[in-house]
Amino acid sequence: MLLQVSSLTAGYGGADIIKGISIEVRQGEIVTIAGTNGAGKSTLSKSIVGLVPKVSGSILLNGRDLLKVSPENRSALGLGYVPQVSNVFGSLNVLDNLKVVRNVKDKPRKIQEMIALFPPLGAKLKLPAQTLSGGERQMLAVARALMSDPTLVILDEPTAALSPSLVEQVFRLVARLPEQGVAVLMVEQRARQALSISHRGYILDQGSVVLSGTSEGLLSDSRMAQLYLGRH
Ligand SMILES: Nc1ncnc2c1ncn2[C@@H]1O[C@H](COP(=O)(O)OP(=O)(O)OP(=O)(O)O)[C@@H](O)[C@H]1O
Ligand SMILES: [Mg+2]
Repeated sequence: MLLQVSSLTAGYGGADIIKGISIEVRQGEIVTIAGTNGAGKSTLSKSIVGLVPKVSGSILLNGRDLLKVSPENRSALGLGYVPQVSNVFGSLNVLDNLKVVRNVKDKPRKIQEMIALFPPLGAKLKLPAQTLSGGERQMLAVARALMSDPTLVILDEPTAALSPSLVEQVFRLVARLPEQGVAVLMVEQRARQALSISHRGYILDQGSVVLSGTSEGLLSDSRMAQLYLGRH
């Protein structure tokens, strides 16, 4: 087991937003978290990364309890994160966006690796990130997360606000990550498309898991159709 989240409760000081959630990600897996706006998907991912003030329960990554590790040190334990918004530095060029990532062992080698993995970035190294297309920007955000050799990367709505062809492009990119030795926990509102490249999924509603299972199982579950699919 790579990531084991057990009875996680989390919030920002008022009422709990995440109410006793347990989820797992195994080595080599892509796991989708879906659910409507405000269900708590970003709060769940931020809790794992360490960006939510009030968290209880346990979060084990490779057997290490992340709640005992400061947010800054979690990336050194193999955790990568691409936030829903502000996931690149718009005024920095592509190369500098990669250079400023911390906890990277051999930075020049890693940058070359990212350019090989994402050729469109290599062609735009000196351009400010804010001039990239939406898909290229997501590519850069993912490349930044991969710089520190994560064993698990958390992607918060990587296809939000992208045109349909870019959505396809980003899902193809995500589908390739397990080949790089990177497991993926992906928050997505495009549940059907996300599940089609995932092994398993969890559906959140009001801070709780209301459905979970294999992608095939979820995609053929009539409750899914009623609840969350077909929104996109
Ligand atoms: N920084 C914050 N402070 C206080 N409340 C917050 C904060 N961030 C989120 N919330 C509240 O937590 C709840 C869940 O928000 P969250 O962002 O986790 O939902 P989400 O499932 O990611 O939604 P979306 O699909 O719109 O991104 C919402 O009611 C929101 O108002
Ligand atoms: Mg969100």
